[in-house]
Amino acid sequence: MPSRLHGALERIDLAEKLASFDDAWNPRIVAELNGQEVRLVKLRGEFVWHSHADADELFLVLRGELEMHLRDRVVPLAAGDAFVVPRGVEHKPVAPTEAHVLLFEPAGTVNTGDASSERAGSLRRQDLDRT
Ligand code: NI
Repeated sequence: MPSRLHGALERIDLAEKLASFDDAWNPRIVAELNGQEVRLVKLRGEFVWHSHADADELFLVLRGELEMHLRDRVVPLAAGDAFVVPRGVEHKPVAPTEAHVLLFEPAGTVNTGDASSERAGSLRRQDLDRT
């Protein structure tokens, strides 16, 4: 019997999941597949510059606005926009107001990448298992 994939074979109510927590920069895992994780996160303000040596990272903005700062430009993202940061590329997400974002990246990716920061969220899934 294969181990059950987190979030598999069930409806995932993203709004309900987002309503179940309020802390910023602390992603929650809502599903996993193919060694990747789908995470929900609330962003408020400015994050740290960082890169991920071994992980490409997808940001899908669900609510609010997100500025993706790259070293040579800033990419404004609105709800409904998605953006992929390739591995090794420095980036700094900035949310002028609260933004709700879905992240898709390899399991175990630390959100601060190579930058050590107290902002590194501890990935928690147990919170959402109860919802
Ligand atoms: Ni990142």
